[in-house]
Amino acid sequence: MHRTHRTVGSGGCGRRFARRARESILGPVERLSIRPSGPLAGTVAVGGAKNSVLKLMAATVLAEGRYVLRNVPDITDVRDMADLLRAMGAVVERSAPHELTIYRPPDTDLLPEAPYELVERMRASIVVLGPLVARFGHARVAMPGGDDFGPRPIDMHLRALEAMGTEFEFRHGYIEARADRLVGARILLEFPSVGATENALMAAVLAKGTTVIDNAAREPEIADLAAFLNRMGATVLGAGSSTIRVEGVEELSPVEHVVIPDRVEAATFLAAVGVAGGEITITGARAEHMDMLITKLCDMGMRISHDHEGIWAMAPGRLRAIDVSTLPYPGLATDYKPLLVAMLAVSDGVGIVTENLFAGRFRYIDELVRMGADIRVEGHHAVVRGKPMLSGAPVRAHDIRAGAALAVAGLRAEGETIVTDAAHIDRGYEDFAGKLAALGADVSAN
Ligand code: UD1
Repeated sequence: MHRTHRTVGSGGCGRRFARRARESILGPVERLSIRPSGPLAGTVAVGGAKNSVLKLMAATVLAEGRYVLRNVPDITDVRDMADLLRAMGAVVERSAPHELTIYRPPDTDLLPEAPYELVERMRASIVVLGPLVARFGHARVAMPGGDDFGPRPIDMHLRALEAMGTEFEFRHGYIEARADRLVGARILLEFPSVGATENALMAAVLAKGTTVIDNAAREPEIADLAAFLNRMGATVLGAGSSTIRVEGVEELSPVEHVVIPDRVEAATFLAAVGVAGGEITITGARAEHMDMLITKLCDMGMRISHDHEGIWAMAPGRLRAIDVSTLPYPGLATDYKPLLVAMLAVSDGVGIVTENLFAGRFRYIDELVRMGADIRVEGHHAVVRGKPMLSGAPVRAHDIRAGAALAVAGLRAEGETIVTDAAHIDRGYEDFAGKLAALGADVSAN
């Protein structure tokens, strides 16, 4: 990063400062042990966005040929999506540490089928449905079940594809989809669902005529997918806004693409420094994707600035409590919420946290309470009364973000915090413990 920097504006509230990173020392783990370590310092690099790369991988079924994806994190979800593409007959190779090459071997037909064993491992696999129907005219995809956040319906995905002419039958736990050729349609989403927007978008690019997706999700990952599709030869306008317009084309071709940085991984390091104190630089992070979070962290007392290379953040001591409420982008992402709850648990004052996206996304709170946090849940609200320090305890990671948040809370918990089922963290973070340790956190894997 250069010494020059911008402050405030799009996501900033302080001065930047950089120190050299220490060596990364740990790999993927089942169990993490965390002790309070005092202020963090140094530089950490953020990887490619999990929620983008999974959809880009799904989009590769839209055209035959050789794709190269760069800035791909080495995480379990990517490996699971690679297994799904392989099960369909594709070759997926890690051609460099953060690069995937995907192609179909000559004389092999892709099988448009997503088996239960793989969909069950990763719910996001449902995004293959749209591109498979668009390309092959039929697809057989296992119905995803619920998960630890509660029910995760896919009605909006199905209705969008139906509007474009897909017919569905549901048999033996599978969605069987059929369409002669998809036709463009006006799709009005009841809610700006990320997955439904992506499924509709990937189907619309090969549909006959114009598709308009209204009340579309606006997440940066949708804009990344649209950029990928446009590079392939699609005509997608307005991605990143609430109205996406797609002019269907006859054929697409494979491309090379660099995945956008993971804003939730970047948020995790911001939360870590917020809890432990100190000052860090997060290279590769894009502040313009995290405006609302940065505004909220500044309200809590952090100082944050950014330039084209990344984000600098400083926490001058114990932070102030604030109220937060999750909303679709550009609102505060639900994926940040466990991290914010961990931060509030050690802040000064009382914060009210409201979850507006996933009914059951509060399970990790019982684990934080085991660490001495004072949190009361009422419906989709949590009232968090901050304490100066938590108390290290054995806790369980129920999902990716919850696991990360528990580890972050451990940075300000007396004694040892042991996070079990830490393999969940590896679904979305590459070398989670190593990167935190590089910032001076006392984290070890066993
Ligand atoms: C994606 C992200 C996830 C993030 C979420 C919201 C991936 C792999 N995951 O999940 O990390 O937390 O966006 O930002 O990208 N819903 C329906 N019917 C549907 C679809 C969704 O009722 O057909 C509801 C969901 O139950 C939920 C809300 O809409 O309450 C938002 O879900 P959605 O935006 O679709 O999330 P995902 O795409 O599953």
